This record gives sequence, C-alpha cells and structure tokens, in this order.
Amino acid sequence: MATTTTPALDVRADFPILSREIDGRPLVYLDSAATSQKPAVVVDTMNANIHRGVYRLAQEATDLFEGARARIAAFAGGETATTIFTRNATEAINLVAYAWGREHVGPGDVVLITQMEHHSNIVPWQLLCHETGAELRYLDVADDGTLSLDQLDQELSGGRVKLAAFAHISNVLGTINPVAEMAARVRAAGAMSLVDGSQGVPQLPVDVGAVGADFYAWTGHKALGPTGIGVLHGRREILEAMRPFLGGGDMIRTVDFQESTWNDLPWKFEAGTSMIAEGVGLGAAVDYLAALRMDRVRAHERELTRYALERLAELDGVRVIGPPDADGRGGVISFEVRGVHPHDVAELLNRENVCIRAGHHCAMPLMRRLGVPATARASFGPYTSRADVDALVASLGRTRELFGAS
Ligand SMILES: Cc1ncc(COP(=O)(O)O)c(C=O)c1O
Repeated sequence: MATTTTPALDVRADFPILSREIDGRPLVYLDSAATSQKPAVVVDTMNANIHRGVYRLAQEATDLFEGARARIAAFAGGETATTIFTRNATEAINLVAYAWGREHVGPGDVVLITQMEHHSNIVPWQLLCHETGAELRYLDVADDGTLSLDQLDQELSGGRVKLAAFAHISNVLGTINPVAEMAARVRAAGAMSLVDGSQGVPQLPVDVGAVGADFYAWTGHKALGPTGIGVLHGRREILEAMRPFLGGGDMIRTVDFQESTWNDLPWKFEAGTSMIAEGVGLGAAVDYLAALRMDRVRAHERELTRYALERLAELDGVRVIGPPDADGRGGVISFEVRGVHPHDVAELLNRENVCIRAGHHCAMPLMRRLGVPATARASFGPYTSRADVDALVASLGRTRELFGAS
C-alpha cells in the first residue's frame, strides 16, 4: 500500500510543452536529468532579450546580464564576483582543470574522483593527469550506490591528493553525496575540492558557501534555464591567484604587444562576447525556482521518488539501481527490466509518449562498475506529477507483457 503523501507542487500550467499531445496522447516527460523543460517566463524573457541585445543600447543588455548574475549568485549562495559564467558545467570543470590544474598538479600527485562521475567530471582530469604525470584515482561506489567517507579519509591520508572532485547528486544512481562533509575532509587534508552540482542545484536548496568546496560547477539547462550557459562558483582567493583559462575579449584589463593584464573577477574568466540572452534566461529560471522555493521543489521530488520506488517495486522483474530510500536520493531512478534491453524499454515507452532515457548516461565507468552496458532512467522535475509515474509504471507493465518477460 502506498505510504506517500501528495507531492507539494502543481505547476504544470507554467510549462507550455506539457500541454502538448502527440497522436492524441499527453506527453509524459521523464528526462529532466538530461534537460529540464522551461517555464513560459524563461522562454518569454529570452525572446524579449535577444532583440534587446541586438537593437537596444549595449549598456542595457549588460545591465540585464550582470543583474542576472547577481541573482544567480544569490540563488546558489555565492558571491557575485566569484560567480563565473561558462557555456555549461563541462566547461566550468575544464576551466578548473586547465587554469588551476596545469599550474598546481604535477608528477606523483593524485586527482581523486569517484566511480559515479559523469564524463564531464572524468575526462578533464584524465587529460590533466596524462599531461602532468599525476595519478587519477577513484572512490568506489558501494552496492547501495553510496560512497565511503572512510575510503575518502584513507585516500587523503596518503598525502598525495591535490584535488578531489565529486558529484553532488549522481545523474545515474540518484545518490545525494554528503558534499559538505567531503569538502571539509578534503580541505583539512590540504587539498582542493570541486563539486559537480549539475544535478544538485536543480533539485536541492544549495548554498555553495555552506557546502564549502573550493569550486562548485552547474549548468543552466537542467535548472529550467537555457542551454549554452553554466556557472562556476569559486573561492575568491583561489580565483584571484589563478591564471586565466581562455584569452581575449572582456577578460583583459590592458593588452600590450607582448603582455596583457587581467580584468577583475568574474570577467577575468569570461573571454569573448558574453552569452547575454542565455544569462538573462537563466536569471529568469532561478527567479522562478526561488519563487517556488527550493525546499518545496525538493519535497515535491522526494515524494514523487518515494511513490515511484513503491510503484516500481510492484512490477516483477524490475530492479532499481541506487539507494533504496527516497531520502538519500534525488529525483533520478535508473532501473533494469529483466530480459529487456534498456534501449527497447525506452523505445516501447516512447511509443506511448513516455519519455525516459536509456544508455550509459555519460557515465561509462559507472556502467562498468555496475556490470551493465546501459540502464533505463526516469527523472523528475518540479512539474512532474504522480500521473506521470503512473503512466511509467503502466507502460512498463505492458512492455513486460509484450516481451513475455518472466
Ligand atoms: C552530473 C552531471 N555532470 C555534468 C553534466 C554535464 O552537463 P553539461 O553538458 O551541461 O555541461 C551532466 C549532464 O548530464 C550531469 O548530469
């Protein structure tokens, strides 16, 4: 019997795409961990501002962009000057790997990451380690989808870790990692920390000051905002001491024939023309989320997750991967259907307009750890409803019947 309570939010009307029907069936969108849908306010703000950027005074566009930065910083608990715009989370992580890593990591050093990372938080460190002769080491993922703080301590006690990077929430397992505790331990060991908050900021109330990591990266298009904009929050003294990442445009103060000097933060790390419409669009997205309140977004998704875990447990042959309890997870559920390849599951659900994701989810090392080539994944946003979960479960039931799965 279901023990869940009604999810906290009812905001579907704010998301125009959710009223769309395909072949007379409603759209059941369960792929928010890949890219969230945008509320009408974000779409309208971006459309208005693209024209403004082109036709009105540049100063007006700059003011809108910098105003958005201030609100985005406040939303995540960061300072405006240390909130840097990038193209996405991937670029934010690369910024650190290049601008900080190439200067501070050398032969014999260790970069420590985890087996649950997205490729965006693996490959930049592989490139760094290959170039510098450092070693890339991994924290294990236990069978319940969690990391071990004891193993973290053990790795740190070796004295070679220069930087540790880990996800706030796994995009495959849904695991919420104890990032503040991890960052504190890394700091106490004299190393730097980076949190990949791509799945954290859209799902939890995040205060990057309280997390206490040296760097915190996230991406706009999973937080109801547009593609083409990401955010890196950094500790001021580290950003000030760091060399630039990309050169040109607004990142300079002076340029001479042989030498240049750098602009103040945050512009020192923002080369070239800014993505004004995207920044302003993300500003509208965080305004929207702030008005919903992130504690309510979290409560909503936790209740949906609890409900989905209960309903999926009713289905024979469906195995959920990751932490068993909704309190320890975000709104991301990977699962296997016995006897049916994840791609077939996704394809059959797609025929009923139930949009889930199948694949390695850009986490191939984690797939290897789990011993599977791929998983099916359903993920939620503030607009996801119980009816969406019911549609998922009903469609999965029909899939199992179709395959005669036992
Ligand atoms: C945990 C995690 N990190 C990083 C990324 C990369 O985000 P982006 O492609 O916007 O840089 C994703 C996207 O799926 C993700 O889920």
